[in-house]
Amino acid sequence: MSQLTHSDSWAELIKHFEEIKDLHMRDLFAQDKSRFEKYSLKLNDILYDFSKNRITDKTLKLLLQLAKDAGLSEWIEKYFAGDRINHTENRPVLHTALRIQENTPVYVDDIDIIPEIRTERERVKHLAEKIRTRKWLGVTNQAITDVVNIGIGGSHLGPLMVTEALRAHALHDLNIHFVSNIDENHINDTLEYLNPETTFFIIASKTFTTQDTMVNAETARQWYINKIGSSEKIERHFSAVTSNVKLATEFGIAEDNIFKMWDWVGGRYSLWSAIGLSIVIAIGSEHFDDLLAGAYEADLHFKNAPLEENIPVMMALLGIWYNNFFKAQSMAVLPYDQRLHRFPAYLQQADMESNGKYVDREGHDVDYTTGPVIFGEIGIAAQHAFFQLLHQGTKLVPADILAPVYSFRCIARHHRALMSNVFAQTEALMKGKTEDDVYKELKLEGLDDEGIKKLMPYKVFPGNRPTSTFLFDTLDPKTLGTIIALYEHKIFVQGIIWNINSFDQWGVELGKQLAKNILNELNDAEKINSHDSSTNGLINYYKQRRPKKQ
Ligand code: F6P
Repeated sequence: MSQLTHSDSWAELIKHFEEIKDLHMRDLFAQDKSRFEKYSLKLNDILYDFSKNRITDKTLKLLLQLAKDAGLSEWIEKYFAGDRINHTENRPVLHTALRIQENTPVYVDDIDIIPEIRTERERVKHLAEKIRTRKWLGVTNQAITDVVNIGIGGSHLGPLMVTEALRAHALHDLNIHFVSNIDENHINDTLEYLNPETTFFIIASKTFTTQDTMVNAETARQWYINKIGSSEKIERHFSAVTSNVKLATEFGIAEDNIFKMWDWVGGRYSLWSAIGLSIVIAIGSEHFDDLLAGAYEADLHFKNAPLEENIPVMMALLGIWYNNFFKAQSMAVLPYDQRLHRFPAYLQQADMESNGKYVDREGHDVDYTTGPVIFGEIGIAAQHAFFQLLHQGTKLVPADILAPVYSFRCIARHHRALMSNVFAQTEALMKGKTEDDVYKELKLEGLDDEGIKKLMPYKVFPGNRPTSTFLFDTLDPKTLGTIIALYEHKIFVQGIIWNINSFDQWGVELGKQLAKNILNELNDAEKINSHDSSTNGLINYYKQRRPKKQ
C-alpha cells in the first residue's frame, strides 16, 4: 500500500465520501444560502466559482489536509526555487522564471538565469518587431506577409492556442500558420497559397530531433529552394527555436536566427520562452509582456495565497476528489469564448502528458488513479454534441467552464444569449429536473397521466453534475496568461499529491522507437514477419496496396 492510500487523511476522505456521496447539490444550496460566497475565489478580474461541486466544509478541510500531508507548501518552494524536481531527467522546472517581473535572481548550477532569459527575449522581440514593421525583407526585398510555425506538441499547441485566443490583438496583414502533422497534406495545404518570397518559417523544436517537425522542416526548405530556384538568401526565411543549437546550425539556420531554450523548460510549459516567437510576431511584444505579467500574477498567487484561498490548489483538490473518490475517469474543459477553441487541445497535452503516469517518485506502481482523460470543446458547440452524456449519461464528468463577461467587439444580442447558456447549463447540470418538475411541465403541455407516465423516465435529469466556472472580464493577454498559469499550477499540485513526476514524458518514447524501425521496413516491397500477426498484416497490406511511387 502506498503512503498516500495509507495516510489518515485518505482514510478520512474515504469515510467522508460514504457520508456525502448521495447528497444532492440542490439540497446543499437550499440549506446554505452562502455557498457561492463561501466557495468562490477571485484573482484580479477572474472569478472562480466552485460552489457547484459535491463538497461541504468538511470535504475541503479533509482535502486540504491531504495537500498538507503531501508537503505541498514545501514542494511549492522547491518548484519556484529551481530544485531538480524533475528527478528522472535530473532537471529543475523553471518555466516560472520566464515570467518573473522583477530582477530577483534564479539560480541553476549557481548561475543566475534571469539575464540570459531577458537577452533571449529581447532577441525574439527584435526579430518580431522587424517582421511586424515590414523591415525584415525577404529574398526579393519584399516584406514578410506569412509566418509558418513548424513544430508539434508543446512547440505547437501553446503558440497556436494563444495566437488564436488573442487574434483581436493581431496584425491583420500578417498571417500566422501552424504546421504540425507529418501527413504531407498539412504542409502542402499550408504552402499551396503562400509566396516563398514573403514567407518566414520558424522551426520550433526543443530537441531538433522530433521526426514530424524535422520532416516538415526539410519539406519547407525544399519548397523554398524549388520555388526560388536556389537557396539564395534562405537565411532571411528560416529561423529556429531550440535547445539544440548544433543541430539547428547543421540544418542551415543562420546563427542570428536561432533562439535558445533551456532544458529546464518542459515542452508543454514553453510558450513563455522563445517558443512563443510566433505569438510575439502575431500580437507584438507589449501584448506578449502582458501575457507574461498575467502568468506572473498567477505565480505570485500560487506561491503566497494560503492553501484554502489558493485557486490552483482548489482546482487540483476538486480534481482529486472526483478522480480518486467518485472514480470519475475524465474531465471536460468547456470554454464559451470562441477564441479559446484550442484551449482544450492545449490542456490535453499539458495535463495528460504531465500526470498520465502509473509509477510514483520512488519507482513503485501507484495503487490509486492519476491524471484524468481531459477532453473538451467550445461550450456552445458541445451543448449540441456531447452534453447529452453530461446531463443524462451514466458517467460522472466534472467540467470546467470558462466565459468572458464581455467581448472585444461586443454585440449585446450575441453576448447575452451566449451567457444565458453558460448560466443555464451549470444550473441544469447541478439541479437537474425532478419527477415533480416533469409532471407539471407535461401537464401544462396537455398530456394525460398515461402519456406523462410513459415519458417520465426520459424527461428526468438527475442533476448533481459538478461544474466549476471561471468568469473573467475579457480575453486579453494578461487574463489569458493568468488562466494558463493557474492550470499549470493545478497540474503541479495534483502531481505532488499523487507523488508522481509531472515533468518527464517517457510514455511517448516507445511509439517513436518502434516507428523508427518500421520506417526502415517500409522502404522496400519485402514482406514483413518480424512483428505480431496484426502489425505484420497491417504493414503488408499497406505495402501491397500503396501506389508504386509511395
Ligand atoms: O513526443 C512528445 C514531445 O516530446 C513533447 O513532450 C514535446 O512537446 C513534443 O514532443 C515536441 O518536442 P520538440 O519540441 O523537442 O520537437
